[in-house]
Amino acid sequence: MSTPTHFINIMDFSAEYLAERIEAAIREKDEFRRGRLEPVLAGKTLAMYFEKPSLRTRMSFEVAMTQLGGHAIYLTEGEVGLGKREPVKDVARVISGMCAGIVARTFSHEAVLELARHASVPVINALTDYSHPCQVMGDLMTVREKLGRIAGLKLAYVGDGNNVARSLACACAKLGAEFVLASPPRYRLEDEFVAALRRAVPSARFSQTADPASAVAAADVVYTDTWVSMGQEKDKHQKVRDFQGYQVDMALVRRAKPTAVVMHCLPAYRGNEITDEVMECPQSVVFEEAENRLHFQRSLLACLLR
Ligand code: CP
Ligand code: NVA
Repeated sequence: MSTPTHFINIMDFSAEYLAERIEAAIREKDEFRRGRLEPVLAGKTLAMYFEKPSLRTRMSFEVAMTQLGGHAIYLTEGEVGLGKREPVKDVARVISGMCAGIVARTFSHEAVLELARHASVPVINALTDYSHPCQVMGDLMTVREKLGRIAGLKLAYVGDGNNVARSLACACAKLGAEFVLASPPRYRLEDEFVAALRRAVPSARFSQTADPASAVAAADVVYTDTWVSMGQEKDKHQKVRDFQGYQVDMALVRRAKPTAVVMHCLPAYRGNEITDEVMECPQSVVFEEAENRLHFQRSLLACLLR
């Protein structure tokens, strides 16, 4: 039996593979809109295991399976008890015997890696505390559609150095875009990640600053995410205090290029990391970005589970 291709970390893939996945997703989105998509996953089932809440990720995977002629089963931590009711390696083998793929959203990144070590079907990371690869592939697909290219652009991420920021930094480096993170110093991406990124992509244009204004200067994309990720609720008051001065408001957006787009992976906390005015402004592409989760992941499923 051949080893399945998992989709867990952007770092695992070549620039060519990532670029081709984005181009394929754009092509298949067009085919879908023309009603020409083939039901290539007919008769196949996807297991979707979630330890955290979700709107976009759960919906997009489930809708994608329906559109491809297959079926998806939503499983929660309370039912499965991954690593508690039974060992991760047993869950991986039981699901592999019945399903064509596993989508998993867990707190622990190691749990998804362990699922993949023991599964004989593809495992797709639907967000861990460490990374959110499907999100950023849909994001860069949106950038490619809106701005015509990815390489050579500047993406300014204003906010927490979190799972989304880590995956985005990696995808930008691989695909030739500059990535600048603006955050209070203690919320930067960790040295270990930055060193790994520089080893993997020596030409990466990656920097971190405490100054949002300099980060967004001449940016093509202004991106933000919640200051309080799922699982960090107890730190909410501290983080909201620490991030004062890091809100994406219209004054900040005006420092970027006039052609810049504003992005947010959602859910957005209007009045914290982003204003209502920015969310609703003509430069905001957040809802097309959300829809592209479906188009990217449908293409990914068709590729990996076929
Ligand atoms: N952006 C994102 O992953 O949203 P959900 O948490 O709603 O899936
Ligand atoms: N950083 C956020 C992303 C939500 C899609 C979180 O982990 O909660």
